[in-house]
Amino acid sequence: MCGIVAYVGAKDCAPILVEGLRRLEYRGYDSAGLAVHTGRGVEIVRAVGKLSNLDAALRKQPLVGTTGISHTRWATHGRPSEANAHPHVAGKVAVVHNGIIENHLALRRELEAKGAKFSSDTDTEIVAHLIDEAQRGGKTQLVEAVRAALARVHGAYAIAVVSSDAPDEIVVAKDQSPLVLGIGEGEMLAASDIPALLAHTRDVIFLQDGEMALLKRSGAEITKLDGTKVERPVKRIDWSATQAEKGGYKHFMLKEIHEQPRAIEDTLRGRIDQTEGDIVDGEIGITPEIAKRITRVYFVACGTSAHAAMAGRYWVEQLARIPSTVEIGSEVRYREPVFTNTDLVVAVSQSGETADTLAAVKAAKASGAHILAVANVLDSAIPRMSDGALYTHAGPEIGVASTKCFTAQLAALLMLAVCLGRRRGTLSADGSRRILDALQHAPHQMREVLAKADEIKAIAKKHLKARDMLFLGRGTGYPIALEGALKLKEISYIHAEGYAAGEMKHGPIALIDEEMPVVVVCPRDAHYEKTFSNMQEVKAREGQLIAVATEGDLDVAQLLLDGQPPQSARSSRGGSSFPPAIDLIEIPKAEPEILPLLTVIPLQLLAYYMADLKGTDVDQPRNLAKTVTVE
Ligand code: G6P
Repeated sequence: MCGIVAYVGAKDCAPILVEGLRRLEYRGYDSAGLAVHTGRGVEIVRAVGKLSNLDAALRKQPLVGTTGISHTRWATHGRPSEANAHPHVAGKVAVVHNGIIENHLALRRELEAKGAKFSSDTDTEIVAHLIDEAQRGGKTQLVEAVRAALARVHGAYAIAVVSSDAPDEIVVAKDQSPLVLGIGEGEMLAASDIPALLAHTRDVIFLQDGEMALLKRSGAEITKLDGTKVERPVKRIDWSATQAEKGGYKHFMLKEIHEQPRAIEDTLRGRIDQTEGDIVDGEIGITPEIAKRITRVYFVACGTSAHAAMAGRYWVEQLARIPSTVEIGSEVRYREPVFTNTDLVVAVSQSGETADTLAAVKAAKASGAHILAVANVLDSAIPRMSDGALYTHAGPEIGVASTKCFTAQLAALLMLAVCLGRRRGTLSADGSRRILDALQHAPHQMREVLAKADEIKAIAKKHLKARDMLFLGRGTGYPIALEGALKLKEISYIHAEGYAAGEMKHGPIALIDEEMPVVVVCPRDAHYEKTFSNMQEVKAREGQLIAVATEGDLDVAQLLLDGQPPQSARSSRGGSSFPPAIDLIEIPKAEPEILPLLTVIPLQLLAYYMADLKGTDVDQPRNLAKTVTVE
């Protein structure tokens, strides 16, 4: 998730811009750069790696001036390199951008045919060329040239633009990516997030989607993209700097849980061809020939990513009818697995660096298997070693316990299954359109589930005394049960087990008594009736049921009501130490393939609130690391 800082005022801007970028470091980045009006025109300095490298580059080539834009880049299109770092220049303009331009390939082809020369692999450079083209075509006002360029662009963006013939102006615009204006005295700033502004002002204006602003020392003129004037009141921010980094949430994990709808939208962006009911191949590299040649899909992953891979296996088997298997990286690594050159090995990894997954990929590669990485960090070790990559665009994840990367992986793997199904002819265009429609609607439904956070917090409070918890699910509900148990144990240190609901009778049922909260993932799907019977079995043993079910499911509601432990059982324990078993968390009705994206959210929130109420270090739980690059 890139960071933008822009400044126009009376002070030397380079130190202000770099310091602002430092306040956005939590967003993650792999390169950085700035563009300043120096009196000799707009000059840029960029550097790969940490901001200290940018500092060093600026010592060699100081940029002195009072108008400038700057950027930290979290790579999405084009590997991290100086050429791909922002700002991008075309003609007189320099542009920084956060987001993804969906129609960048078509625009690039068109601009190249007209003679534009590109010097990066980024989607952003297209914006610079479009503005340049508009200026050459007679749009002499920078704001008009930017307006004309943005009319051609689809996707998500926050941009800041300077032009060498407008030394006291910055134009900013946004659609779906964040941008906030800072109102200073005789100076104006803009940034991706509030922490970059706090040293200069606490008076801000949040730009809305489809709006742009012309920034000058004296103030901001805000308009819609069509030129209509916008009046927006100034807001005063009273957050501390740390609160601001977390967007006002108490922990990064909670912020990231709430960012999930956006993470899914960004992961789907530009990849769905709804007319054909297909997935745009892009960097995935699964041609129809490769898809038809595959005799097995072999998922490798660790931790939370392995749970996403398990859901991926169900989808690939259902939709593409290819035998599939999932193994955790460390087991592949220390066995002698048999890979063949007709295997598709899918390595799922948030960081793209996990040592065990990487080692498994190496072993598979040696046998000629086709390797596809599903990773969140562009150009990390696993995608570098793979034949293709399907990146999740969740942005950097800071909480050690993975949340938004998990649901982004689910979305990516469902797209992969659709892609394979379409290319092998096992999935019709209509069947695919049904799933893709539902997938595009999922972020909206995820927001509905997130709105139940307070209800889930109340349930967490009731079960705080639990020492053990059981999570059950069937079909794709099974990996979700495993993930719910993992989240809980990782951050609250409560012992938790995830089980396939059908396995309950083979062991875990022995654990169930009135002290045991049992979370059952039981949405209305093909397995509903079977999982419902499991809930009845839990109820019969007085376990504390917490059901994640489809809204309006009267059977579940009735079961939960009837399932109150008998008065005798409660009074024999002092009456109040264990809560009555009437916990129901409803998710919206959805197509079966989308259910895991919805059912996991209550489990993430339950784990979060139980941990927070216990007072553990939620973002950095003991003994755990975010990226595990050792065996
Ligand atoms: C660590 C993290 C987990 C993550 C796992 C796999 O254990 O704490 O959140 O799921 O590594 O990481 P990867 O980056 O490969 O997804």
